[in-house]
Amino acid sequence: MYIPDENRYDGRMPYRRCGASGLKLPALSLGLWHNFGNITPFEVQQRLLRTAFDQGITHFDLANNYGPPYGEAERNFGVHMDRDWRPHRDELIISTKAGYDMWPGPYGDHGSRKYLIASLDQSLKRMHLDYVDIFYHHRPDPETPIEETMGALDRIVRSGKALYAGISNYRPEQARAAIAELRRLGTPCLIEQPNYSMLDRWIEHGLTDVLREEKVGCIVFSPLAGGMLTGKYVTGIPETSRAARDPRYLTPERVQKAGQEKIGKLMKIAENRGQKLHQMALQWVLRDEVVTSALIGASRPEQILDNMACLKAAPLTREELEQIDRILAE
Ligand SMILES: NC(=O)c1ccc[n+]([C@@H]2O[C@H](COP(=O)([O-])OP(=O)(O)OC[C@H]3O[C@@H](n4cnc5c(N)ncnc54)[C@H](OP(=O)(O)O)[C@@H]3O)[C@@H](O)[C@H]2O)c1
Repeated sequence: MYIPDENRYDGRMPYRRCGASGLKLPALSLGLWHNFGNITPFEVQQRLLRTAFDQGITHFDLANNYGPPYGEAERNFGVHMDRDWRPHRDELIISTKAGYDMWPGPYGDHGSRKYLIASLDQSLKRMHLDYVDIFYHHRPDPETPIEETMGALDRIVRSGKALYAGISNYRPEQARAAIAELRRLGTPCLIEQPNYSMLDRWIEHGLTDVLREEKVGCIVFSPLAGGMLTGKYVTGIPETSRAARDPRYLTPERVQKAGQEKIGKLMKIAENRGQKLHQMALQWVLRDEVVTSALIGASRPEQILDNMACLKAAPLTREELEQIDRILAE
């Protein structure tokens, strides 16, 4: 039986308010996109979740299509739920999403009311849950009217199958429209989930302004660019890394294109600060209060512990931030 660390709320994990809502999220959250499908032993998954929770990571993020195969991360999570998490359900924020390709035919993708409502019903069954805390529309759908997609989120929250509604991968003007529509319906948008890391700063060009103005939270995914901001790829592709083991998204070409020389320079700045690059990279995405949480992945429990050190480090100085800006602009 799993007995969580009784000191998990001892202050090591800051909880940051999600926009103007009543909900706080841990500064670091754990995503189940990789390492929770059928290619990762169940016992490894279990240790990842337990380690995270023992550190005060109270938020686990899923989506309908996380695997492989699609649905498998949620199916596995259902078993973890039964074995470990049922007694701690009220201490957890569990999210899922729909918006990408999930099942064949015209109703298993994009943003229709038909897809979103059916998908969440499937997710709840797979995860052995009555409700999720946050349900997201996973990506904007240019064909479905925003009123229909947001109407489905509103309906889902009112039905009690989700406590909060969120959007993911929405560009600034799309986010503004979705937020306005949800507000009109009476179900405020809790949060946006965009990608953000030192290697991709797009949210700084409009999206963070929208979220600040609208008082909506922001959880940034892939803050380590899938592991590239650990520096592990600077001298090649290690056998145990994501790009070698599961290169569905982090392909060797993408690793090469990222500019490993630049990453090497960032490693030097981190070294001068007495920390590792990934710790600095996490601190960097969290430097602006508009970011509620950094949504990390991990293939080994030790990585979660290692990443936790970002929360204790000295703040980045203006000089260091300028140095980082210069390297990133090269
Ligand atoms: N909304 C969306 O469209 C969307 C899209 C993508 C992701 N997400 C969410 O964001 C979550 C995180 O994404 P991500 O996994 O790409 O995040 P990430 O934190 O950028 O990358 C995680 C990977 O980096 C490596 N890593 C992490 N900490 C490390 C450490 N201390 N030392 C060495 N290596 C370390 C591990 O890879 P290896 O050890 O395998 O090399 C780990 O799996 C997902 O699980 C999902 O919940 C959402």
